[in-house]
Amino acid sequence: MRSELRSWIRSNYEAALSYYVLSDLFARLRASAGDIDTTSGTVHSTLSAEDSVRYVERVFEDYKRYSGVQQFYGRVAEVGPGDNCGVALLFLKDGCSKVDLVDRFFSKRNVRSQATIYKALLLKYPALGRFLGHAEPVDEAVFRSLERHYGARAAAENFFLTNTGYDFIVSRAVFEHMYNPSSALSCMARALAPGGYLLHKIDLRDHGMFSLAHHELKFLEVPAWLYPWMTKGTGRPNRVMFHEYRDAMNRLGLSGQLLVTRLAGVGDISPHVPYEAIPAHLRAKSTAYVRAVRHRFATAFRTVSDDDISVTGVFLVARKD
Ligand SMILES: C[S@@+](CC[C@H](N)C(=O)[O-])C[C@H]1O[C@@H](n2cnc3c(N)ncnc32)[C@H](O)[C@@H]1O
Repeated sequence: MRSELRSWIRSNYEAALSYYVLSDLFARLRASAGDIDTTSGTVHSTLSAEDSVRYVERVFEDYKRYSGVQQFYGRVAEVGPGDNCGVALLFLKDGCSKVDLVDRFFSKRNVRSQATIYKALLLKYPALGRFLGHAEPVDEAVFRSLERHYGARAAAENFFLTNTGYDFIVSRAVFEHMYNPSSALSCMARALAPGGYLLHKIDLRDHGMFSLAHHELKFLEVPAWLYPWMTKGTGRPNRVMFHEYRDAMNRLGLSGQLLVTRLAGVGDISPHVPYEAIPAHLRAKSTAYVRAVRHRFATAFRTVSDDDISVTGVFLVARKD
């Protein structure tokens, strides 16, 4: 779409609603014809090989840091890996026996640039060589101990109904794209081996649907009956917010914590910490931001507290007893 048209649609709320409904319908039609390609998760196409390696390392280090696990082990499922399996490879290097890549869609990728990233990873971590098969070009299909699952049956909501026994189920920037995150979370909790961990970084923002031209919580104004028609087929953000993850964890009896990664009107909270550990002036700034914009919120969000709405990113860490 031409960039002037795109920015006009973005700045016009009603036009944006119509565009999102139509494109979501189109995505559902494509999916029903078996086309699962998406640009969501196409992260590495614009990065140099060095930046890609750094990106993969950052994601992996976050899993370590916030789980408190010194060395990963056993069976792992990485949900929504996007266009590169580098994070899964670092789990293997750390000592895991198998990693399942689990994705509802197939993120578009450039095979040649992916091969360059894998070669850079192999150069930096020679221990990965023992997982490398003999085929060329080097892509995610050639690594041993990685199993790839794509399409509707690999949606998190379905996959963990029948695939179980995981020591770690991890994801980054995926839960907000799911059409039923609550059901996915309960399936994942059941799919964990005893002592297993759920590690999920979740971005609760609108991913630019409205916030590029309006305030950052504008998407909470869309009526509840309309919102799924704009999002379910494309995997646009589901606007399941902080309180729903907290309630789901309680309901599932999961012990762990929700660390805050972002606050509305404030920005990133780094290192990520429980809500109560955020400096009071930042919490106050964020709740003031929420109060200033919430008068137009859809009914479902009107009764949610300012504190809960103000959290626009979380890192869910839970362990099965
Ligand atoms: C924004 S990308 C994140 C990619 C990668 N984890 C990262 O952080 O760069 C979201 C990913 O989630 C996948 N996804 C969306 N809905 C899903 C679902 N219901 N089950 C599994 N994966 C899903 C997309 O196909 C995509 O690969």
